[in-house]
Amino acid sequence: MGCIFDLDGVIVDTAKYHFQAWKRLANELGFDFDETQNEQLKGVSRYDSLNLILDWGGVSMEEAKKQEWMITKNDWYLELVNKMNADEILPGVQSLLSELKEAEVPIGLGSASKNSTRILNQIGLTSYFDTIVDGNRVKKGKPDPETFLTGAKELGLKPVQCIVFEDAPKGVKAAKAGGFKAIGVGSAEHLYEADYVVPGFENFSYTTILNLYRRMNEI
Ligand code: BG6
Ligand code: MG
Repeated sequence: MGCIFDLDGVIVDTAKYHFQAWKRLANELGFDFDETQNEQLKGVSRYDSLNLILDWGGVSMEEAKKQEWMITKNDWYLELVNKMNADEILPGVQSLLSELKEAEVPIGLGSASKNSTRILNQIGLTSYFDTIVDGNRVKKGKPDPETFLTGAKELGLKPVQCIVFEDAPKGVKAAKAGGFKAIGVGSAEHLYEADYVVPGFENFSYTTILNLYRRMNEI
């Protein structure tokens, strides 16, 4: 068995920083959007997020301008990311990773973010991961399963042998489309397509994963 973790919203709560930076961009362009709309951006690539936001504001622009705004948004986002440290690791994550490592369970990262390596370094978790598949490495983003399929391959496992941890409905869709077992991290209302949903990793151990894995595979 192996575990593949999404980054934003599963390991750290960077969604709030993405929201701040995108909001700043929308405001500069003369409109606003709310937290409910922000939910739709979870798991979505930078480019697709920009297009969604521009749609909400009824703004159209040329491709070259979009590229410029993406760089500006990312600079704003990184100003926030650069202040992050290990205190921002979500509760229970580090002890779970340690337990998995101890048990020699292969661990992968499967994220849409092109900043994933920087964030993992910033919070000191890079060494836990046997493979890192992120937005720099895939052609098709979530809900396409490419991210997780690449991760499983690099871990030397079949999708059915891996559990994917995801906070975004699009990420859960990607996992299921690839034939993975998916554990949703967050609210069951949003993540109804997952095999199982947990509110977070507090009180969540390697034994919990093993039990869920057996249950999900009906062993
Ligand atoms: C995902 C986030 O993990 O990464 C999205 O949920 C984000 O909100 C996407 O847009 C891309 O991130 P980045 O860091 O490459 O802009
Ligand atoms: Mg996420």
